[in-house]
Amino acid sequence: MGKDKLKRFQENNGFECLFQPDFKEVFNNNYLMKGKWDLTYFKNGLPIVLELGCGRGEYTVSLAQTFTNNNFIGVDIKGARMWRGAKTVTEMSIPNAAFLRSRIEFINSVFDKDEVSEIWITFPDPQIKKSTKRLTSSFFLERYRGFIKEGGVIHLKTDSQFLHHYTKALVEANNLEIISCCDDIYGKNFADSILSIKTRYEQMFLSKGMPITYLSFKLDNKRALVEPEFDVEPYKEAINSLSL
Ligand SMILES: C[S@@+](CC[C@H](N)C(=O)[O-])C[C@H]1O[C@@H](n2cnc3c(N)ncnc32)[C@H](O)[C@@H]1O
Repeated sequence: MGKDKLKRFQENNGFECLFQPDFKEVFNNNYLMKGKWDLTYFKNGLPIVLELGCGRGEYTVSLAQTFTNNNFIGVDIKGARMWRGAKTVTEMSIPNAAFLRSRIEFINSVFDKDEVSEIWITFPDPQIKKSTKRLTSSFFLERYRGFIKEGGVIHLKTDSQFLHHYTKALVEANNLEIISCCDDIYGKNFADSILSIKTRYEQMFLSKGMPITYLSFKLDNKRALVEPEFDVEPYKEAINSLSL
């Protein structure tokens, strides 16, 4: 492991805003923060918003600075990336932001029923080959239902036309309410100050001239979710030619 990565991992252990449950805690579904994020960390009674696959946490930090009437938690498995966000939150003493190092597959061990109000998913890997790995698949949305409030909003911002259209098809197939949808937020002057926050991956995609998409919808609890009928083939070639 590189020296820089080791140094970041060591520093991570000292950040109060960074939570790193061990495998047993999440595997046994008994992580000590489950149902207690407000009681033991934020202590302000404000709604909790997650950023899944947060990388360096640009959205988590910027949203926390802009919306001081919410709490934000960035979730990712890569500690060396999350170090950037945790360091900023620590240095700037941002009280309403935290980070969680965990695989998202175990997220139901970390948040309790109705503990979360909204979820941002920013530039996730499109996972064209396996739908159950997509962070917006019915497999993951069923997990989010375990802790998001009824009608809680999911925001997906991505460069991937495939993931954007797949997720839209899934939302429509399940009669979930779409709040907002755009397949080119900058080209169509759709990006407001929130959508204009740019993550590291977004900057890379923009430098390649790729349009950035956005979709937000409400996740209700009405019936079991189904996968949409969606043809992956037309997207495969485009994805291969654009891989970073
Ligand atoms: C393409 S990067 C995007 C990072 C950041 N949102 C950005 O826009 O710069 C996807 C991130 O999702 C994280 N990720 C993907 N699948 C994950 C999973 N199942 N559990 C936890 N993190 C995951 C990766 O570690 C990676 O940091």
